[in-house]
Amino acid sequence: MANLAAFATALLAILHIYIMVLEMFLWTTPRGRRAFRLSQEFAQQTKVLAANQGLYNGFLAAGLTWGLLHPVHEFAVKFSCSSVLPLSLLACTGCWAGITIHLDTIKTMDMASVFKGSGDGKLVQSTTSKPDKLTGDQVLVKVTASGVCGTDLHYRNNDMVLGHEGVGIVEALGPNVKHLNKGDRVGWGYQTDSCGHCLECLDSAEIYCKERSIYGGNASLDQGSFATHAIWRAAFLHQIPEALSDEQAAPLQCGGATVYTALQGVKPTDTIGIMGVGGLGHLAILFAAKMGCRVVALSGSDRKRDEAMALGAHRFVAVKHVADAQIDDDTCLLNRLLVTTSAQPEWEGIMPLMAPRSRIYPLSASSGNLEMPYMPLLLKGIGVQGGLVASRGVHRQMLQFAASHDIKPVIETFPMDEKGITEAIDRLERGQIHFRAVLVPV
Ligand SMILES: NC(=O)c1ccc[n+]([C@@H]2O[C@H](COP(=O)([O-])OP(=O)(O)OC[C@H]3O[C@@H](n4cnc5c(N)ncnc54)[C@H](OP(=O)(O)O)[C@@H]3O)[C@@H](O)[C@H]2O)c1
Ligand SMILES: [Zn+2]
Ligand SMILES: [Zn+2]
Repeated sequence: MANLAAFATALLAILHIYIMVLEMFLWTTPRGRRAFRLSQEFAQQTKVLAANQGLYNGFLAAGLTWGLLHPVHEFAVKFSCSSVLPLSLLACTGCWAGITIHLDTIKTMDMASVFKGSGDGKLVQSTTSKPDKLTGDQVLVKVTASGVCGTDLHYRNNDMVLGHEGVGIVEALGPNVKHLNKGDRVGWGYQTDSCGHCLECLDSAEIYCKERSIYGGNASLDQGSFATHAIWRAAFLHQIPEALSDEQAAPLQCGGATVYTALQGVKPTDTIGIMGVGGLGHLAILFAAKMGCRVVALSGSDRKRDEAMALGAHRFVAVKHVADAQIDDDTCLLNRLLVTTSAQPEWEGIMPLMAPRSRIYPLSASSGNLEMPYMPLLLKGIGVQGGLVASRGVHRQMLQFAASHDIKPVIETFPMDEKGITEAIDRLERGQIHFRAVLVPV
């Protein structure tokens, strides 16, 4: 019996040594860590644990060998049975329990589920590993809502994580993050980095920085808002005002930012045309109406008349009747027109609606050329102004404006899984979303 106890103790000691070797030399190597999906932090912790165990094992092995080989054999056996064996058992169980729990946490922390586009346009669920340690001003965000923008449709055939209207909760911070804390609600949009020192950056126009990181451009293709988590620079994350829910804030991160930028500088006495009553368009109606402008909604058919008026439009024009629109009411001439259709419109019909010295803002992403009547630009002094989402200052003002003026995007929610995202994207493509799809984690 006594020998059996001593033998068991020795076995446990060997097991300890084995765990120690595993911890010290396997898990802590980059290859071992990858195989076991361990973070560097965890590997460091186990190294310390292993060093302690090593010390303990050394004493245990030396004591046992000495006891078994010497006349104090009896004492060694008693000692083993009464204290070393139970302690060793406890240590082993505790060690394994701790490691198992820790491993589980680390595994889920180390991988993010993401949803990507693919060659045939089918949405694919995948995983992305997160770095063991966040560096600089990197922030790990747990996604709680994501808008689905018309621009996502342009990337559904690309092997990249989709989504750029993200909202979530800060889960971890790099060492240089100053203005965010764990638990903060933040959002991000189309742009996630810029150089910070070029003239555009210095002029608060970093969206036109030569070294910018934008969605589908040179931003990471492994990060996106159709995901459980994403990592971005804190400098490009925006705190979400209390008054906005996650789901409401999501469509503002790209759609809201884009139309708010195109509305910069309007006067309450201006008449603003919004062409296309979709994701961007309905937000533009909401913003322009709250800015005190007279709003004219221009839509492909009569179908959205009531809803456009309910959103705050003062007048609705079905584009097929656009030729009659300007004849019956001259005061409706547009000082500014935001074109938010998913394809370029027939420009001829629009020109007579424009006021002298007005501006047209084509916002639709279109690969074709801009072909519009030329002489009206001269005769009426009409300007054409392209624009891309928002720089950060405008983005933040937009969020504040939305919060204080109770701007509530009209959304349809879908579960953030393959089926839900596919349905949202397909319906967006068919023009059946009312008015912005928002994905929420399942
Ligand atoms: N410039 C930027 O920074 C920026 C930012 C975000 C998005 N975008 C672009 O803006 C466009 C709109 O995005 P979104 O998210 O608002 O899309 P959306 O929700 O699909 O809205 C587009 C609207 O365009 C109209 N439309 C649909 N099919 C059309 C067609 N074949 N020809 C003309 N009009 C059509 C529909 O409005 P009606 O039924 O009222 O006619 C539809 O609701 C996309 O091209 C997107 O890539 C640009
Ligand atoms: Zn720059
Ligand atoms: Zn967008």
